[in-house]
Amino acid sequence: MLHYPKRIELAALPTPIRPAQRLSDLLGVELLWKRDDLTGATLSGNKVRKLEFLVAEALDAGADTLVTCGGEQSNHCRATAIVAAEQGLRSFLLLRTENPRQPPASEANILLDRLVGAEIRWISHEEYRRRAELFVEVESALRAAGRRPYLIPEGGSTALGAWGYIRCVEELAVQLPQGEPATLVYAAGSGGTGAGLILGVKLLGLNFRVVGVNVCDDRDYFVRAIGSLVEEAIRRFALPVAFVRSEIEIVDGYVGAGYAKSQPAELARLRDVARLEGIVLDPVYTGKAFYGLFTELQRDRHRFGSRIVFIHTGGVFGLFPKSAELAPLLG
Ligand SMILES: Cc1ncc(COP(=O)(O)O)c(C=O)c1O
Repeated sequence: MLHYPKRIELAALPTPIRPAQRLSDLLGVELLWKRDDLTGATLSGNKVRKLEFLVAEALDAGADTLVTCGGEQSNHCRATAIVAAEQGLRSFLLLRTENPRQPPASEANILLDRLVGAEIRWISHEEYRRRAELFVEVESALRAAGRRPYLIPEGGSTALGAWGYIRCVEELAVQLPQGEPATLVYAAGSGGTGAGLILGVKLLGLNFRVVGVNVCDDRDYFVRAIGSLVEEAIRRFALPVAFVRSEIEIVDGYVGAGYAKSQPAELARLRDVARLEGIVLDPVYTGKAFYGLFTELQRDRHRFGSRIVFIHTGGVFGLFPKSAELAPLLG
């Protein structure tokens, strides 16, 4: 029995696990979808699991505004803005864009951010690199205005947020045949999902391997990012597990044209999965991670063992800004 920190219920849990029947036949492995895209409708994807713990802490601290940051089409920022509205709080988003003086159109995640009333400050890539300083600035400006901000780092990836994916592993332990090995494959963006999965497998003593496919930066970056989150969680919550960073498995090589930039082959794979399985991946995270998994399995179908669970972490709204790129692939 795990002792979870305080959480509030935001996600529709447990999410289902389903066989990827036709892809399994095609690839010669048993492939399953863990449908974390079904944690909700607009409040959907992996971020909701993390927010259950983070928002519980925010409410306990008496916060009235959730402050966070991300790329212009951030799923995490959208989920934070929606949960804020659900809880009667306000949200303040620092969104990274090419030219903050000409913000992008209000489509997809941005449309939802604005619909639920998020305050948005557009920032450049250079400012985003100084986001820790900007957080301090925003925090003091909000406090000076009599507000009570709660700061959520990029992607909700903190030691507390990682509990969301410890909980996901607990669900998987019930959903998968007991004691049999499986490899959990996920998209790594800011590291919190990976950290939670690794911790969950250790805490529950399961025969699961955890493999991330990075969608930005590189392997070394994620070994550091995930490693420090795991270590921080072990310290902060006195978790009885041993961990060394060399255990972190990252499959690098699928960032492609760069974060949130798509290549036709990735989009074609995403289309094929949609047509074959009725599963809609997103172009920024799950589409790239799945493209990586598929390509690796074509090279060596034994690489990840005989049972693979792909954690579908959501992100469907990221498809809409790609409609022009997708159109020529749709026949
Ligand atoms: C749809 C989706 N999948 C995966 C990720 C990556 O998760 P994490 O940031 O926990 O590494 C994100 C966010 O970054 C996301 O929005």
